[in-house]
Amino acid sequence: MNSTESIRIAIPADVATASRAARQAAEQTGFDRTRSYQIATAASELACNVLVHGGGGSVTVRAVTERSGIELLAVDKGPGIADLALAMQEGYSTTGSLGCGLSGVERLMDEVVIESSAGLGTTVRASKWL
Ligand SMILES: Nc1ncnc2c1ncn2[C@@H]1O[C@H](COP(=O)(O)OP(=O)(O)OP(=O)(O)O)[C@@H](O)[C@H]1O
Ligand SMILES: [Mg+2]
Repeated sequence: MNSTESIRIAIPADVATASRAARQAAEQTGFDRTRSYQIATAASELACNVLVHGGGGSVTVRAVTERSGIELLAVDKGPGIADLALAMQEGYSTTGSLGCGLSGVERLMDEVVIESSAGLGTTVRASKWL
């Protein structure tokens, strides 16, 4: 099974769509229910950030057959993350929210790579292996 699904993130309902797609892909890849929900939660947090901070974009869910895993790719062309180290800290939020989205993604997934530049947008790649 080799699948990639790209979800456009433009309205709040799209966050749930991305989360559901991630859960489904995870279960199909062979993750158990708990770990599938961890991947779904990470997708939800990334999609939420794309919507709230990035002004919209996309979340792509890919089943990585070569390594048996799931890769989430969140892309937006928003303002970028001003201070990446701060943004990764639990409890840090520029919008008065909980500030545990990105730190949560790091805990829930095995690998997280963030590329962000001021004015150009943000790309977050998060993977979890079976
Ligand atoms: N895609 C993004 N574009 C620009 N800034 C971002 C993006 N994602 C995160 N950030 C910045 O990083 C901070 C931390 O993100 P994080 O998801 O951890 O917390 P939050 O979104 O503020 O709150 P929560 O996710 O808990 O509701 C955000 O407050 C925001 O300033
Ligand atoms: Mg967030």
